[in-house]
Amino acid sequence: MAQILPIASGKGGVGKSAISLNLSVALAQLGKKIVLCDFDFGGANLHTMLGHKNNKPGLGHFINKLEEHLEPLIQKTAVENLGFIAGDCLFPGTANMDYFSKRKILKEINQLDADYVILDLGAGSAYNTLDFFLVNYKSILVTTPEITSILNAYSFLKSSVFRFFAQQFPARSEERKLIQDYTHTRLEGSELSFTNLIEEIYNKYPETGAKAINKLDMFRPQVILNKGRTSSDIEMAQRLKSLVKNKLNMNMEFIGFIPHDDEISISIARRTPLILSNPESEFAKRIYPTANRVINSNFTFNESIFDEEKEDEVLEQLVKEFTNEE
Ligand SMILES: Nc1ncnc2c1ncn2[C@@H]1O[C@H](COP(=O)(O)OP(=O)(O)OP(=O)(O)O)[C@@H](O)[C@H]1O
Ligand SMILES: [Mg+2]
Repeated sequence: MAQILPIASGKGGVGKSAISLNLSVALAQLGKKIVLCDFDFGGANLHTMLGHKNNKPGLGHFINKLEEHLEPLIQKTAVENLGFIAGDCLFPGTANMDYFSKRKILKEINQLDADYVILDLGAGSAYNTLDFFLVNYKSILVTTPEITSILNAYSFLKSSVFRFFAQQFPARSEERKLIQDYTHTRLEGSELSFTNLIEEIYNKYPETGAKAINKLDMFRPQVILNKGRTSSDIEMAQRLKSLVKNKLNMNMEFIGFIPHDDEISISIARRTPLILSNPESEFAKRIYPTANRVINSNFTFNESIFDEEKEDEVLEQLVKEFTNEE
């Protein structure tokens, strides 16, 4: 089964696409079979960075049911072992995807003949993005050392951890309700933290709570710091790590420190991944160790996304909403 590796960011423009692209090339060069997918719904641009024309069917065709499977959408690239699935640029408005489309996409991705399927996600914490980010317990988050980017990375992780924790309980369980109520109370300005929530769930529901807490312990996003300039940037990374540990009780790992490199803009203008046009560039040299860390990571697929029981509940809920029963 292919490993799905989503790449997200809290803030836009931090270099997700540049990293998704060059990391995919590096992994392909290291002998892994890769499918790179443009999952930036409404903002797809990987085709341009790859030098492909914007006239081929992509995810938009699948979501709009013009193509039944993902496999035929894979485009060959100039790199051996690297296939590409374009985004939805021929179909505006795909961003509001329903649960069933997401589930179908995931099922299809799982069946692709690849070692890794890399998803270049859109920026921010929209539910669709969070859901795809949560497909893997060790998805990648990109940030720059800028304080705004670090704080947005923290907010993204916070939204992810709440959603991840809630997903561990059935759709209309008491535990879910408690989490939802809790989120609302927080919005009203309470000082309660995520760690308090975990405690409360555990005290009230020791059995299901303990299970969810164990899962939470496995949730370890991997972070890449991009556009670094000085060694003090690494301190910013450490601060993010401590913040996440203290406030969210969550461990995150750093798998790459990528320097700021002006050659990236040149490579985008030339529509060729920098790692191909200049493997000796500072950017390219730091992508390879990151690719090796990816290969050595023990990825875990988040199987609760495919939970049949939960699907039935969601289906039931949707039918009720549709027929105004509730
Ligand atoms: N390491 C780097 N050094 C210098 N410039 C970089 C680096 N990485 C990315 N950039 C530049 O930052 C800009 C944004 O990069 P990119 O499009 O990859 O970001 P993104 O996170 O995918 O953005 P979006 O949120 O719009 O999808 C581009 O102009 C790119 O040239
Ligand atoms: Mg992008």
